[in-house]
Amino acid sequence: MPDDLTDVLEEWKCLEEEYQKIQETHRQYLQKLDEISKLQNNCSTSISRQQKRLKDISVQVKHCSNGPSEDFRSLNEIKEKIKTRSNAFFEMEAFLPKKNGLYLNLVLGNVNVTLLSKQSKFAYKDEYEKFKLCATVALLLFSFMCYFFVNHRVFDAILNFLLLCYYCTLTIRESVLITNGSRIKGWWVFHHYISAFLSGVMLTWPDGSLYKAFRNQFLAYSLYQSFVQCLQCYYQSGCLYRLRALGERHNMDLTVEGFQSWMWKGLTFLLPFLFFGHFWQLVNGFCLFRMALLSDLSEWQVLMCGLCFLILFMGNFFTTVAVVRQKLKSRNQKPKNL
Ligand code: COA
Repeated sequence: MPDDLTDVLEEWKCLEEEYQKIQETHRQYLQKLDEISKLQNNCSTSISRQQKRLKDISVQVKHCSNGPSEDFRSLNEIKEKIKTRSNAFFEMEAFLPKKNGLYLNLVLGNVNVTLLSKQSKFAYKDEYEKFKLCATVALLLFSFMCYFFVNHRVFDAILNFLLLCYYCTLTIRESVLITNGSRIKGWWVFHHYISAFLSGVMLTWPDGSLYKAFRNQFLAYSLYQSFVQCLQCYYQSGCLYRLRALGERHNMDLTVEGFQSWMWKGLTFLLPFLFFGHFWQLVNGFCLFRMALLSDLSEWQVLMCGLCFLILFMGNFFTTVAVVRQKLKSRNQKPKNL
């Protein structure tokens, strides 16, 4: 037998052995996947069964609270435990596959978007913050160019189109984040729907005298908003990095002194910029309403944009105040929790 052929046969034998091993490993992998999916189903059904029973028991506890005062303490204890139990279930469900909401179902179809490890959740959030930062910087540069150098409706249309795409992408990414246990308040997601709608309306606004009257104010506002969003991204990715470094999240944050002080420093720096942006939204809304009244509603976009700005102002302002109040409250409660 020629040497070449012996080499080939030997190599083939080696490959065959390796192939058998790969097949075995893959079989084990499929078996484990099967076990995992059974465990996931088990966990999900047990959690929903417990949640239903907790709901029933909460109603019973409410009925019993009118009884004698000696039972009051044990009832209160049960109430507290029910509360912590629901938080625990929320954390558990973040690691279990669940059905997509209506929006994700429409956009992505029924694909599972639950990330099954803490690292991949952090990595997704991290990538989301980076995407936000890059897109915001691009939008900042583009609005700067439109404001100072290029005065043409086509470029304004491109800017509004980019804003529309940006906000649509954020709504999808945030829905994925929420499925993965993020506590983003509903308003911020709604804020992005309204902003996408606003950019769409701006896109259709004809290049008349009314548009020209509002153009510079809108571009300056976009410029400012992109700047504030850069600061906000810096603050939020800072929070994310520190939390990751500490390996802590959500209800554990209160025990982490260093994180708390960094967060407060960042927040007190950010808040004046945020409130000024909200005030600017209010001014935009008023200017557009005045314009709509003076122009006898000849262009529907004026009133629509005015309405969007007012809704944005109210939602942003009240949600930010609520977030700060909630953070202050938990800071004041800190000594009790320690
Ligand atoms: N957009 C997207 N996600 C947001 C968000 C926002 N505006 N505000 C908070 N979140 C997310 C956080 O990243 C966090 O997510 P996680 O659970 O995955 O970690 C979750 O919501 C809870 O955050 P919370 O602790 O309530 O707030 P925070 O400390 O992260 O941020 C503010 C607080 C006030 C800085 C932030 O809410 C904010 O920037 N609000 C103002 C936005 C605004 O007004 N924009 C218009 C500017 S002109």
